[in-house]
This record gives sequence, C-alpha cells and structure tokens, in this order.
Amino acid sequence: MLSERDLELRKLANEEIERYKDKVEADPYRLNYHHMAPVGLLNDPNGFIQWKGTYHLFYQWMPFDTDHGAKFWGHYSSEDFVHWKHEDIALTPSDWFDENGVYSGSAIAHDDYLYLFYTGNVKDENGERESYQCVAVSEDGVNFEKKGVSVFLPEGYTSHFRDPKVWKEGDTWYMVVGAQSEDLQGKAVLFKSEDFSEWEHLGVITGSGEGKLGEFGYMWECPDLFELDGKHILVVSPQGLEAEGMQFANTYQSGYFAGSLDFEKVRLKHGDFRELDRGFEFYAPQTTLDYKGRRILIGWMGVPDQYEQAQPTIENHWVHCLTIPRELTWNGEQLIQTPLDELKEMRGPVILHSSITIENDQKAVRGIEGKSIELNLEFDEIENQFAIEMFQYASLSYKDGILTLSRPHFEENQKTEFRRVELAGKLKSLRLFIDHSSLEVFVNEGEEVLTSRIFPHSEDEHILFTSLGTSTFSIEQWKLKGFQ
Ligand code: FRU
Repeated sequence: MLSERDLELRKLANEEIERYKDKVEADPYRLNYHHMAPVGLLNDPNGFIQWKGTYHLFYQWMPFDTDHGAKFWGHYSSEDFVHWKHEDIALTPSDWFDENGVYSGSAIAHDDYLYLFYTGNVKDENGERESYQCVAVSEDGVNFEKKGVSVFLPEGYTSHFRDPKVWKEGDTWYMVVGAQSEDLQGKAVLFKSEDFSEWEHLGVITGSGEGKLGEFGYMWECPDLFELDGKHILVVSPQGLEAEGMQFANTYQSGYFAGSLDFEKVRLKHGDFRELDRGFEFYAPQTTLDYKGRRILIGWMGVPDQYEQAQPTIENHWVHCLTIPRELTWNGEQLIQTPLDELKEMRGPVILHSSITIENDQKAVRGIEGKSIELNLEFDEIENQFAIEMFQYASLSYKDGILTLSRPHFEENQKTEFRRVELAGKLKSLRLFIDHSSLEVFVNEGEEVLTSRIFPHSEDEHILFTSLGTSTFSIEQWKLKGFQ
C-alpha cells in the first residue's frame, strides 16, 4: 500500500508531466533513441537489471525542477534494448528515511522478487545530511513496496555515504557503497550479508589515501564492482581530482580500477585509475550482467555542477539524458566499450562509400548527414590531419595521435571548449552515434569513448570532412529509428 504522501507526490509529478508535455515534446533537442525524463531533471542510471527476461532501467529524477533536489526513481523497461516502455514512477521521496531524495542504487533478483537498494537522503531542520541504505521490493517489476532502512551509517564516515551496488558471490551477498571518511577522503566501502537482511560492515576496499593511490578525491560516488575476464573491476565516480594534462578535464570524473579483490582482507589490489569516457558529459555509470553473460554499462550524459543550468533545454523544462548501452570486455590491458549489438536493429538502409580520398580540402559526402544517425569510418591513411565537422557546431579532429573534440562553451558561446585524448596507436576507426543533441564517439573499436551533449541549430544537418595532406577512408551511415 502506498502512503498518502507517496500518492500525493505521484499525482504532483504526473501533473507536472502533463503541464509541460507539449513544450517538452516540441523541443528539437529531444532525443530519439536515448532515455530522458518526461519533464524535469534526470541524472544517474539506477537499478539496471535483466529480471524475468525483461530489462529494467531506472533513473534519478527530479520532476518539479530542472535542478537537483528530492529525487524520485523513474523507470523504463524493455525486452530487447530497442523498444522501451516508460513505466509508472517506481519510488518517491515519501518517507522519513528518504524524504530529501530516493538517491542512487541498484537492483537485484532474489527469491522470485525484484529488490531495489537505494540511498535515502535526509536533511534535518539544520540542513545536516543523513543517509540510510534502504530497500524496496516488487513482485511484478513495476510496483514497489518500501521495506525501510537496511544499513545505518557505520562509524568513521561522514553522511556522504551512498549509492549501494549489490551482487551475489557464491552464497554471500555483497554491497559496495560510495563514501567519504571522517578525514574527508573518498572511499569504496564493502558490506556482506549471509541472509540478505543483516549487513556486516567489512570496511574500505580502496580509496583516496589508501595504499599507493595517494590523494584521490574527497568523495567517491556510484561504485560498481564486478568480475570481468578474471579481473575485479571497480567502476567509480570520484570527486575532487585536479585536471592532469589531458585527463580529468570535467568537473568530476568516472572511471575504473582493475585488479583483484581479496574478500578476506577486504582489499582491492589494483592498478591506475582510467577514465571510462573522455568527452564533456559522462558520469555515474552503472553496469549489469544480463542473461547472455554480457556486462553492460549505461552512464548519465551529464556531470554534476558542470554548467548544467546553461543547457538550452532548461527553458523547455527538461534536462539531460542517459548514454546508449555499451558492452564491456577486457582486452588484457583495459576495458573495451562496444555499443550493444541490439542497437543495429535501429538501423535503416546503409549508405556506403568504400573509398574516399580528400586532399587538402573540405568536403561533404553524398548522403552523409542527419540528426539521428550512426556513422562508421575506417581509415586507410591519415597523412597529416583529419577532421569531421558536425552541423557547424562540434568538431572531431585527429593529428599526431591525439583526438580532439571541440564545441562552443555552454556558458560563453563565443568560446570553444576542447577535450583531448592521446590514442595508444594510430586512428583506425571512428563509430559515431548522433542523436539530435548528443554525440557518442567510439574510437578504435571502443578503446576510447567520447560522449557529449551538443546543441547545434536545429536546421543544420550537414557533416563535413576536412583533410590536411591526404586522408583515405571508407564510410557507412545508417539513419536510426527511435526506440519508442
Ligand atoms: C551522482 C549522485 C549520487 C546520488 C545521486 C543523487 O550523480 O550525486 O551520488 O545518489 O546523484 O541524485
């Protein structure tokens, strides 16, 4: 039974959807095949799981504002990653333990039920934060009943303690939580449970100031821990890293450590942190393991506090979207991200140019244009410099092993901003997913990815290719249909 407060919040949120529906839907920056909220602000993907065959994907949602606040959980479901249904609201901030936000968390199947673990965010009358790790349960995957607090804040941490990710290892359940220690360092904290009800605090597996890592941020958000090809991978979003050369250019980062987790010693022995994405907008990703054994990742195409309010969709009462799903694999040295195979189902007929040569020139290529497309470029030669210009807005250029993405600054449109990445080898291929106001670039079969929002003038569909010296490449393009 939903409480009166819960019913009231649902009603208000649904009214807000209706109020701005026409405005939101008329926005040319609405995306075609990416998850968005129907109104208001969307942030992290949550509770990503395949359960009883169906994929469920929840998201952090503030229906009443295009800013952060007391979050709800919105909900999408799909049978095939191509057609998605927007479900009823999953969770609202209706209880004493989550009244200032049903914050991020994960989903897990247990005993025929779907469980959600999330952080209840509470601010007391003095503005002091409290956080509780909470549980909700469903028997149909759509209606959830809150079960209340499952983990209280252990000693040694501030109330920045959130984003539980739960998984099962043999007969034992584990939970990793993002935390800040009392000396204000970001940590990943492990719990275990034998009965799915009592959770034992095991301690910090790694974090800022732990082992050889040194200073590594004042807060770690949204940890996710899984095994891939015999390695333990900890995906995490640290806050407080300084930019370092071309790395860590966004306000906050998302990346991973690869290593091995000793459950007895409660230690993750790991290598260096590596960013998952080198574009402008990517944060708080979450993974799931599906029935086919694929480790699939979806991220938020946004970064907290990174000029979110300067995004032009704000005037139409919505902001942000999620990324496309990416399959993760390990190539022996690093994670490789590949757009999920199912996305090929969205393709219309192919336009193919098997050999294009451009020499000291800028050219359009017949048929290569559009706002909801996938583009695949394979390079035979880049003698000096090669660039793709999209919609007189964003450009992707390559020279001397460095790929640069540029776009106008959201706050100061006269200024151009850059994100750069040094590739391990030459540029061999680029796979671009463009969706009205988003761009996702998979470089060299997913060795690097650059994800960004773009806000070009809506009329311009042109893509231009520039080469200094000679560039030879093939190109394939598909128009992509939306997933509704
Ligand atoms: C990450 C985050 C999480 C938190 C959620 C609140 O973007 O700050 O740590 O649970 O967003 O919406």
